Amino acid sequence: MTFNALKEKGMPLDKQLRTWHDIVKRPFNKYDVDCYTRTRQILMNGIEVEAWNFKHALARLCPMIEEDDKKVIAQSRRIEDMHQTTVNWLTPACQTVLETTLGYEQVAVDLTSWLAQNEPDEYVKETFDFGLLEDFDHLYRYSQWAYMIDGINPNEILQNQTDVVIGRPTQNHHNCNAIRLRKPYDKATAAPQTKVNILTLVAGEQQTHNFYAEHGMMYANDDLRRTYGEICDVEEEHVSMYESLIDPTESPFEKLLLHEFTEVCTYYNCYEDEVDPKIKQVWEEFLAMEIGHLHIASEMIKKYENREPEEIIGTNIVRPCHFESQKPYVINILENEVQKRLDGGVGYTDIEDLEDDWVSYGVQEVVNGDGSPTEQTIRLIKTSIERDIVSGDKKLIKKQPELLDKGLEDEAQAPNTVTYEDYLEMTEVDVYEF
Ligand SMILES: [Fe+2]
Ligand SMILES: [Fe+2]
Ligand SMILES: [Fe+2]
Ligand SMILES: [Fe+2]
Repeated sequence: MTFNALKEKGMPLDKQLRTWHDIVKRPFNKYDVDCYTRTRQILMNGIEVEAWNFKHALARLCPMIEEDDKKVIAQSRRIEDMHQTTVNWLTPACQTVLETTLGYEQVAVDLTSWLAQNEPDEYVKETFDFGLLEDFDHLYRYSQWAYMIDGINPNEILQNQTDVVIGRPTQNHHNCNAIRLRKPYDKATAAPQTKVNILTLVAGEQQTHNFYAEHGMMYANDDLRRTYGEICDVEEEHVSMYESLIDPTESPFEKLLLHEFTEVCTYYNCYEDEVDPKIKQVWEEFLAMEIGHLHIASEMIKKYENREPEEIIGTNIVRPCHFESQKPYVINILENEVQKRLDGGVGYTDIEDLEDDWVSYGVQEVVNGDGSPTEQTIRLIKTSIERDIVSGDKKLIKKQPELLDKGLEDEAQAPNTVTYEDYLEMTEVDVYEF
């Protein structure tokens, strides 16, 4: 279906203030919420944080914006913040930090898979696939803790829609941040879909980073705190990697238009897919407000740059956040690309082709010097119940030793690395049934 947001009326900015009772709604029920309602809620929180933050950056960095327009942006920025409160605070107080964390990594895995399959630019797709296998491994590591600390089956959150097995081992995600930087798209030729896809993922990864940075200290267990610290730092690498795909020469007004368009597209996609009627209403209302913001950004592009918004965002909506189970897609990437690494330029290579002086070995030797917390995680669960917590079909679970063998670097290994032999031993033990 086509939907040209520029032709829709939307809600004018001066009608967008709401009462505190409307802003702070009743949370969902964590026991019966659909897992993809939760992923939408997690993602849209990240989208709103980015929208709010970006408008502050505009205020601080862009002297060319006229006084009257600054005032309009200040008002819409407050609305973004109110959106953020509504969306994030749909989280019930009883949903633990680890349960929410599993939700965040489910977003990362299933969103990145969706984006990769709907990405017209091959290089951008390759970068999505590369990051996918890292978040997939984070989900596996955190699932152990969800069992050890909360005593839950990760499927109480994931609802069997997303597999839980080893991915590219997290101890190998630590790169020199300089080689994380990718080649940006060309703003003149890139499809609106590419621009929206990247902005959506940047917002999601940034919020994941922020959530870990703000919540990892809420646990007393040192190994778990360090696990959050280690994975939080990988999310910083992910934000750096994905944002570097964006053309840095886009003007501030172009970026404003793309931010509002991304909000329109994501809310539209959420509205189309939502199964919870109360939350669907939220998506519908916020979509109307975002169309209002889009009109403001369109007027600014016309006024300051004498350009039509259609040149930048086209005439149709894109769908950047449809959630559904992506198991076959993820398994295919996992089996074929777990050994992939950053090549030191802007491309990719395989472990076996890395030079001895590959710059990320130096980083890994330092940060994993006292052991990698995400390796310690598997040691702890193996000591406790003789194997790891996993979910997926039997064939996939049996492949774990092979995936480790293919996906782990021989160089610069953490001193507490869980070995191939350890995985063989774990494979001999029946999968833990809850
Ligand atoms: Fe918003
Ligand atoms: Fe992650
Ligand atoms: Fe990530
Ligand atoms: Fe907005």
